[in-house]
Amino acid sequence: MKVKQAEFIISAVGPGQYPEDALPEIALAGRSNVGKSSLINRLISRKNLARTSSQPGKTQTLNYYRINDFFYFVDVPGYGYAKVSRTERAAWGRFIERYLTDREPLRKVMLIIDVRHPPSKDDQAMYDWLRHNGLPIAVIATKADKIPRSQWQKNIKIVRETLGMPKGDPVILFSAETGQGLDELWQLLDETVEWIGEEKPEIPQE
Ligand code: GTP
Ligand code: MG
Repeated sequence: MKVKQAEFIISAVGPGQYPEDALPEIALAGRSNVGKSSLINRLISRKNLARTSSQPGKTQTLNYYRINDFFYFVDVPGYGYAKVSRTERAAWGRFIERYLTDREPLRKVMLIIDVRHPPSKDDQAMYDWLRHNGLPIAVIATKADKIPRSQWQKNIKIVRETLGMPKGDPVILFSAETGQGLDELWQLLDETVEWIGEEKPEIPQE
């Protein structure tokens, strides 16, 4: 897909603020600072539409970006930031859980993990929870530019094994810095948003 238009729509703090146009939604989940917003910016070739964090863990809203009037990226606040209080974390959890389980237009959850390290306990819990709830998941291993090419396959294998991914489920290697993995990711996204609900039935004239 060629991105002709990308627009920030809203920082939603509750379901009442979610868009009502029923366009498909692609959510980005992952721990704080992993590179979710950078990935969106790279996908749409914009430097700073999705705000990248100088203050990790501060974003507590679902940030909606509408692409080509065709679908939304939904930037989900990152988990696992140590300085967030337990109460805040619980509230965060309920808010995100509700969004992920109740949101009809949601078509895919991109779970973003850092390819440099084995998935954290939080990453594993998130992945298990997404699977348990039957959500369509795409695992994206980002920051590929930060490790030598010779380690890519080994690290991806560790990601697959640590998460216990079913054989055949893809891990897309990505870098917001170099643009690596862009074509593969767009292909997946194109396939995901192609289907936009039921075809409108032809209304016979007369
Ligand atoms: P929260 O909104 O706090 O959850 O963070 P986030 O997941 O949106 O991360 P963000 O995109 O703000 O990136 C965090 C830091 O990682 C920034 O300094 C980015 O420049 C850097 N970063 C993100 N992706 C990459 C990448 O692929 N390669 C490199 N080298 N740096 C990256
Ligand atoms: Mg962010």
